[in-house]
Amino acid sequence: MRNAVIAIAGSSGLIGSALTSALRAADNRVLRLVRRPPSSSDEVFWDPDTGEFDASALRGADAVVNMCGVNVAGKRWSGAFKQSLRDSRIGPTEVLSRAVVESGVPVLVNSSAVGYYGDTRDRVVDESAPAGQGFLAGLCQDWEDATSTAVAAGVRVVKLRTGLVLSPSGGMLAKLKPLFSLGLGARLGNGKQYMPWISLEDEVRAVTFAVEHDDLVGPVNGTGPAPVTNAEFTAALGRALNRPTPMSVPAFALRAVLGELADEGLLGGQRAIPAALERAGFEFHHHTIGEAMAYVTAPKTT
Ligand SMILES: NC(=O)c1ccc[n+]([C@@H]2O[C@H](COP(=O)([O-])OP(=O)(O)OC[C@H]3O[C@@H](n4cnc5c(N)ncnc54)[C@H](OP(=O)(O)O)[C@@H]3O)[C@@H](O)[C@H]2O)c1
Repeated sequence: MRNAVIAIAGSSGLIGSALTSALRAADNRVLRLVRRPPSSSDEVFWDPDTGEFDASALRGADAVVNMCGVNVAGKRWSGAFKQSLRDSRIGPTEVLSRAVVESGVPVLVNSSAVGYYGDTRDRVVDESAPAGQGFLAGLCQDWEDATSTAVAAGVRVVKLRTGLVLSPSGGMLAKLKPLFSLGLGARLGNGKQYMPWISLEDEVRAVTFAVEHDDLVGPVNGTGPAPVTNAEFTAALGRALNRPTPMSVPAFALRAVLGELADEGLLGGQRAIPAALERAGFEFHHHTIGEAMAYVTAPKTT
């Protein structure tokens, strides 16, 4: 994609910043929606909490990509923190959904997550699977439903149900790599829960692909083609770092430290497959967890 104009909310985050760089490197214009005073002509102020946003700034844009939200694994889940997870996603998505309609933007790629499916154990789920149970599943449903104004107005809305994004720097692997490098890498609980991963590079390519491909609409799993169990994930990261991973962290210890986040975020999982992306002809750069781990652990070249 070249010479497109893409507005991004959450552009300072792990995915948003990589997407911004990739789009700019390919000669596209990125409008960053910022929650502070703008510091350049490519920045547009918005206040997702109050809804203050001059939607006319989006006129002429080819797509809006929404990647905002307080980090789900940022803290132990108190009632107040869970509310902030909802408030930083649902209201802002409603604001963007109205704005794309008002300004005539034809495409909205809205972040969601595989948490939509709840804990699927070893059942394979594609985009046709129903929503699951639990806080994250409810959050993802409400987050996706917050696009309804845009959907009703005929905007092409892609609900990108992203899995665990594997990045060479940042995200969950930035926390795991030092532990694994010290030989402290461990399975979580019984290790049988699925981890639907995607490399950051493929996540960014999938967003761009979704913007460009008119046949992609509605839910789209942003996950790699081969989800693995936590035990397989742990072994793969250990192999990539050349460290043994014989240990496991018992479920009760994770629950004691992390509370509800342990069950929903670490001890449960989704065996999600990217059926919609593959049907539309998307080709992954990282197909297997081994390829993804080689990508995230490769020494920096610059
Ligand atoms: N990374 C993953 O593994 C993963 C997996 C599944 C789903 N997702 C979802 O994908 C989206 C992007 O993920 P990410 O890893 O790039 O997240 P991230 O690094 O935590 O960045 C999220 C961005 O959201 C914005 N933000 C933070 N607090 C906010 C608030 N209170 N109200 C509105 N915006 C706020 C910030 O951008 P600005 O300061 O620029 O506004 C922040 O940089 C998130 O919605 C996340 O839940 C991510």
